[in-house]
Amino acid sequence: MSTVIKNGTVVTHDMSFEADVLVEGETIAAIGKNLDGDTVLDATGCYVMPGGIDPHVHLEMPFMGTYSTDDFDTGTRAALAGGTTMVVDFCLPQPGQGLLDAIQMWDNKSTRAHCDFSFHMAVTWWGEQVFDEMKTVVEERGINTFKHFMAYKGALMVNDDEMYASFQRLAELGGIAMVHAENGDVVAELSAKLLAEGNTGPEAHAYSRPSQVEGEATNRAIMIADMAGVPLYVVHTSCEESHEAIRRARQQGKRVWGEPLIQHLTLDESEYFDKDWDHSARRVMSPPFRNKKHQESLWHGLQAGSLSVVATDHCAFSTDQKRYGVGDFTKIPNGTGGVEDRIPLLWTQGVGTGRLTPEEFVAVTSTNIAKILNCYPKKGAIREGADADILVLDPEKEKTISAATQASAIDYNVFEGMQVKGLPRFVLTRGQLAVNDGELQSEPGHGKFVKRSGNGPVNKALSSWKELTSPRPVERTGIPATGV
Ligand code: URP
Ligand code: ZN
Ligand code: ZN
Ligand code: ZN
Repeated sequence: MSTVIKNGTVVTHDMSFEADVLVEGETIAAIGKNLDGDTVLDATGCYVMPGGIDPHVHLEMPFMGTYSTDDFDTGTRAALAGGTTMVVDFCLPQPGQGLLDAIQMWDNKSTRAHCDFSFHMAVTWWGEQVFDEMKTVVEERGINTFKHFMAYKGALMVNDDEMYASFQRLAELGGIAMVHAENGDVVAELSAKLLAEGNTGPEAHAYSRPSQVEGEATNRAIMIADMAGVPLYVVHTSCEESHEAIRRARQQGKRVWGEPLIQHLTLDESEYFDKDWDHSARRVMSPPFRNKKHQESLWHGLQAGSLSVVATDHCAFSTDQKRYGVGDFTKIPNGTGGVEDRIPLLWTQGVGTGRLTPEEFVAVTSTNIAKILNCYPKKGAIREGADADILVLDPEKEKTISAATQASAIDYNVFEGMQVKGLPRFVLTRGQLAVNDGELQSEPGHGKFVKRSGNGPVNKALSSWKELTSPRPVERTGIPATGV
């Protein structure tokens, strides 16, 4: 059975053109004029682009005494509803737990995925077992990205010596280091002080994580990665200080990428000053929402190319779960949803305002991510032979975001009431129609794990450069005799 998407404008990361797209089975078979197929999808007036890739989600994440409510079933359904056809979750070993053991747990959780997915590995502790298993994770399990939490002291946080050891190992294995960049020691001190002074509400979450803690940690991670010779991916870049460190590093030729979230691009810190406790607590995440100055910096980074990818960090907790933190903001589970809203919101506030071109939009929602993660052009591309993960976006279709109509399983939406223009008409996941004329018809279990090998092009270039410039003894002509 074949499907042809007719009369649309194909948009890739570098150009737009009128063409039909023919899908046979799970892949794109042809792109051109006047193609025929068994089923015809009419894309008149629409843009035909690679499905979104969200490189940062936490589905059924064990965190802060509970599990995030959207799991691989509801979370990937929500992804497809919003035009995202691949998500990447984080395997989180418990302290002392092996990496392979943790992957087994994530394999078990992900059997009901509606769209394709991959995993990052988290390094949550350090020891010989972790060092040894990293090789198997990269070479056999196809996971080449490893996250390090510089925050969440006493839980997921690792220290600089552990991070440096892990980064060096990744350089050897051709992997990519990722960091959650916040200075966890300072956050812990500030939190204790705020609580002692009677600041117990959700606004204190923001006070406890000022932009300096993020800027400092980002810069530290960049320098440690440079010394270890490993490419670095900074997740949820939310502020100018962090962006500035990334921008500077890139200008110096360092291999660093920054990932702003759609939340930080569109929501600001005023959310934490709402009179309604639930309203503010539902928006507690790390890093917290920032002021407009930081927001502008993130948009400029996307425009200038100093920031590479827009993600969501989708980690959806219900209102009941958020209420674990009544009376103590440090107990509010950190995380917000967004996987369903990223594409429509970024199109509306990015392309709709002229901040981004349609091609730049495709780059930051899909193609750049696929290249960094080393799964391009299987993913992130409209080209012959690529997986048929396709979004047909209708730029005239509008809606008001509302929890009442969302696919996500939680009882609210942090973007409630926001107007979006630019919604999926069709979404295909590996050739299967998951959104048909705006209606979700996806299927649990369709999603497959995407393996990503190590030693991508950036790893190869960086290791060549590091080898060329590494310390080596000077060949001397005259060496004085030792001693007297
Ligand atoms: O608040 C957040 N971001 N929760 C999810 C875990 C993380 O830090 O990415
Ligand atoms: Zn994080
Ligand atoms: Zn601006
Ligand atoms: Zn996260």
